[in-house]
Amino acid sequence: CRIAVLISGSGSNLQALIDQLPGDHCQLVAVLSNRAEALGLQRAAEAGIATRVLDHREFASREDYDQALVAAIDAFQVDLVVLAGFMRILTPAFVRHYHGRLLNIHPSLLPLYKGLHTHRRALQAGDREHGASVHFVSEELDGGPVILQARVAVLADDDEQRLAQRVLQQEHSIYPLAVRWFAEGRLRINNLGRACLDGEP
Ligand code: GRF
Repeated sequence: CRIAVLISGSGSNLQALIDQLPGDHCQLVAVLSNRAEALGLQRAAEAGIATRVLDHREFASREDYDQALVAAIDAFQVDLVVLAGFMRILTPAFVRHYHGRLLNIHPSLLPLYKGLHTHRRALQAGDREHGASVHFVSEELDGGPVILQARVAVLADDDEQRLAQRVLQQEHSIYPLAVRWFAEGRLRINNLGRACLDGEP
């Protein structure tokens, strides 16, 4: 399975994929970023993965940008596109182009807290549980079929940063696992629009 990873920042999830994906099934062939200063680009370079920067500020519209992004990704002939902290909303055309082979990780127990500041919102709501979700990407922001979730307990003395840190640690386990399932051909979107593993209905 040839995989492209899209990032905007630190790339700790990218690092988890680099470290944990089995090389025989999964080839990380490209890392693309909309920000040239993303630390994740260095992680990719150190791992010998090709990198591309496409700066969104150089494009007139979101549609133009996403079209260029598709071309840059497809030049690598990938089977799967993995969003790992790619901080841009994607156009419907982009999402449709990669239907069924576009994954994202979101730091909440979806469908709770789509969008930004998930840890703050979970704390403000007084939730006792929080977590992260891997999902197929659909046209609705953070609304696609959920594949796998990790739960963490919210502790009495948590602040945003401590909670985020523990959630991120869980992300680093579940994202490589879900990507591996996909690479092994075990994961798809079924007729009901749900994520399904090993042909379950
Ligand atoms: C993570 O919190 C992920 O859930 C969200 O963006 C962040 C990426 O962190 N989508 P990193 O760049 O992988 O360290």
